[in-house]
Amino acid sequence: MNIHERLLVIDFGSQYTHLICRRVRELKVRSELIPWDRFSIDLIEEDVKGIILSGGPKSIYEDDAPTIDPYIFTYARKRKIPILGICYGHQLMAHLLGGDVSRGKKREYGPAILEIVGESKLLTGLPKKSRVWMSHGDLVIKLPSNMKISGRTENCPIAAYESIDGLFFGVQFHPEVKHTEYGMKILDNFLKLCGFRRDWVISDIINQKIKEIRQRVGGSRVLLAASGGVDSTVTAKLIHEAIGDNLHLVFINTGFLREGEVEWVLNMLRNLGFKNIHYVDASDRFLKALLGVEHPEEKRKIFARIYAEVLEEAAKKLEREYGRFRFLAQGTIYPDRVESGATSSTTDKIKSHHNVVMPTLSSLEKLEPLADFYKDEVRKIARLLGIPKEVWGRHPFPGPGLLVRILGSITEEKIRIARRAHKIVEEEAKKWGIYDELWQIFPVVLDSKAVGVKGDARSYEYIVAIRAVKSEDAMTAEFARLPWQFLEHVAKRIVNEVEGVNRVVYDVTHKPPATIEYE
Ligand code: XMP
Repeated sequence: MNIHERLLVIDFGSQYTHLICRRVRELKVRSELIPWDRFSIDLIEEDVKGIILSGGPKSIYEDDAPTIDPYIFTYARKRKIPILGICYGHQLMAHLLGGDVSRGKKREYGPAILEIVGESKLLTGLPKKSRVWMSHGDLVIKLPSNMKISGRTENCPIAAYESIDGLFFGVQFHPEVKHTEYGMKILDNFLKLCGFRRDWVISDIINQKIKEIRQRVGGSRVLLAASGGVDSTVTAKLIHEAIGDNLHLVFINTGFLREGEVEWVLNMLRNLGFKNIHYVDASDRFLKALLGVEHPEEKRKIFARIYAEVLEEAAKKLEREYGRFRFLAQGTIYPDRVESGATSSTTDKIKSHHNVVMPTLSSLEKLEPLADFYKDEVRKIARLLGIPKEVWGRHPFPGPGLLVRILGSITEEKIRIARRAHKIVEEEAKKWGIYDELWQIFPVVLDSKAVGVKGDARSYEYIVAIRAVKSEDAMTAEFARLPWQFLEHVAKRIVNEVEGVNRVVYDVTHKPPATIEYE
């Protein structure tokens, strides 16, 4: 049994499901995501005080449409657990309780004006009319008995409903997205109706986590592969607070790190007070195995294998020197752990990085103190632990590093270009005050060359693409509308300072359909 009261979000595959979870946590309630096909009534333990049914891309009339055991409603009524259906969840609840859903003739996606109808517990405190973010194909056209309409929009006569007993609620729009003007107010109202204590307070949770780690690890030794990224650094700091110098950090130079990164990471770790920092320079080994490799999955696989081998060797060596390790700590965070319809591809990718079996490493118990947290919560923990902004404000950088930002065959020339261009892009983004507003900004070395003219001569050189995105959690992302002057300046610097590049392009695709990284 958890010490926090919990809200379950049952995931029907919407790209926003993790966002619902995060919004609920912002309102100080612990939320957990459960894929619909893994849900069963016995997961509604005693500490569960509310349930949200998420949106999803399917129509309830499709053959393989996700659904849920209808007994959930009888059970929830018995225990007085409120349920909120959002979008697909709104339709599914109406359908399972005996209402009618019609197959929509046209999809509505985007802003709409919600008008409140009559008295509503869920929409209490909202103005009569407000902007919401709609997304639907099908429509609820008839409500189950004991339900009433509480909101409508121009194209959606039943945009919100609630049961007379004040337990079940449905909204066709997305309260979790920022474009819904009073979305947070609606979620807050729902949490109030559930009667939550609001006990998900990060500053309290930290001390409790440290205590948990201390109890579990005792006097044993812990190994952690540090990268200098936010997740592994915060993981290390939490464990260090709990057990001190029985924590050993291994930092591997893969050769695909950015310019100056090795020195920066080592310095930063020393400044944070870690004593046992073991640096392994494996750059030649990675390079030898990866030179000439072209295919993205092959690159990732080779990288993952060598990384595991190098870490395994380091673990064996350290065990000879210090004695046995009992734990392998990892900076796994909540979205890595919980698959949702919208994130499974990213999750698979990240998993493939960890999936290589090595005897010493795989004999160790996993220690993942951040496995309950989202990235923004991890950043909050970092701040509260006194970790400097240059660490928690750092953009995510994938494990395989520059490798996934060099398209086509890996060559030393392309690595050099990626490294130099990275330095320029990051430096300028910080100087122009753009860095902190972005989820990520980075250059990518394309696999093709283009003709240009430098001085008097025609050149035939590489093209560098700049990728800059805004995002809340990397599940979806928008390309950033950066000032032309900034892009012009960065392009000029790259072409002038990075030998072998004569053209810079800017990527204007969102995720989806593109991903943030290129490989
Ligand atoms: P994509 O490219 O799937 O990326 O839109 C989503 C987020 O995940 C990061 N990413 C990775 N992080 N190891 C990591 O630790 C990886 O192999 C990896 N691949 C992608 C990416 O930078 C973005 O923030």
